[in-house]
Amino acid sequence: GVPATTAEHPSVDHRACGHGKIILLGEHAVVYGSHAVAAPVPLAVRAVAQDTKSGGVDMFIPRWGVEYRLHRDPAHRDSFQRSLGIIFDELQLTDRSMRIEVFPNVPRAMGLGGSAAMAVAVIRALDQHYKLNLSDEEINALAFRCEEVAHGSASGIDNTVATYGKPLLYKRAGKKGEAPMVQELHLPKRIPLVIGISGKESLTAVTVGKVRTAWQRNPALYDGIFQQIDALTLQGVEAMQQYDLERLGDLMNICHGLLNALRVSSWEVEELVQIAREHGALGAKLTGGGGGGSIVALCPQNREKVAAAIRDAGYQAMEVDIG
Ligand code: MEV
Repeated sequence: GVPATTAEHPSVDHRACGHGKIILLGEHAVVYGSHAVAAPVPLAVRAVAQDTKSGGVDMFIPRWGVEYRLHRDPAHRDSFQRSLGIIFDELQLTDRSMRIEVFPNVPRAMGLGGSAAMAVAVIRALDQHYKLNLSDEEINALAFRCEEVAHGSASGIDNTVATYGKPLLYKRAGKKGEAPMVQELHLPKRIPLVIGISGKESLTAVTVGKVRTAWQRNPALYDGIFQQIDALTLQGVEAMQQYDLERLGDLMNICHGLLNALRVSSWEVEELVQIAREHGALGAKLTGGGGGGSIVALCPQNREKVAAAIRDAGYQAMEVDIG
């Protein structure tokens, strides 16, 4: 059964958290070397580590009804255990006796970076509890290894935002082992958005895999789409820096059209995008892996109207400012 520990631990340290994120421009293409822009959202996963006498690593995620003992042998782990298990193996903590409790305030499988935020939160909880003195770079690198297991061919953008919690322009490394290009974005003013959450769970590993299959069948065609996404993302950075929201909105709409061409949209995502545009959003697009998940809408004027219309249609809406 699930232990009766749903109340937040009183000594949760704010540092033991991983940030959720939105991708404003460039998802999927970023896996193939294009630029992408991402920003943290005010949702985070937190984790706490405690010593026990249980003789193993016990993981509890009360909100999800998840409770398991980490298998010492990686070959016996399921996909969820395999991803987080890397952390314990790498930090040589697999044989310790502990309890990790996780408070996932980022909705699961909604394109908001929940898996990366969870990896970072668990690493930071262990770092604090065992006084490992890990740097943010080390935390980020370890979270990336978890993401590679979770996503297949992760670009590394989710774990980077989960670790640093800053808006950034990102481009993955050309070769394995090289560092990605990460540039913090300084905006003149915060950008007002609505996040629409479809409620349809979708695994990024699945949509990333679908895009890969399509790309393998016709690499020239798909590379062309990725290049267009790359170009509009760089234009979007300029628009953000000049606070030209009309232009940014246009670019978001075009980006959504190209993501639709990659077939990572869904019925619910299309409805959310239409609702946002009809109620005055300057731009609206899916965010993250797609296939369900969430959208972002740029709403400098009609933010409450857009959020209300999304809720009226039966979806969740969150108003956030990035920058
Ligand atoms: C997921 O948030 C973003 C994707 O581009 C995958 C990745 O970059 O690893 C879809």
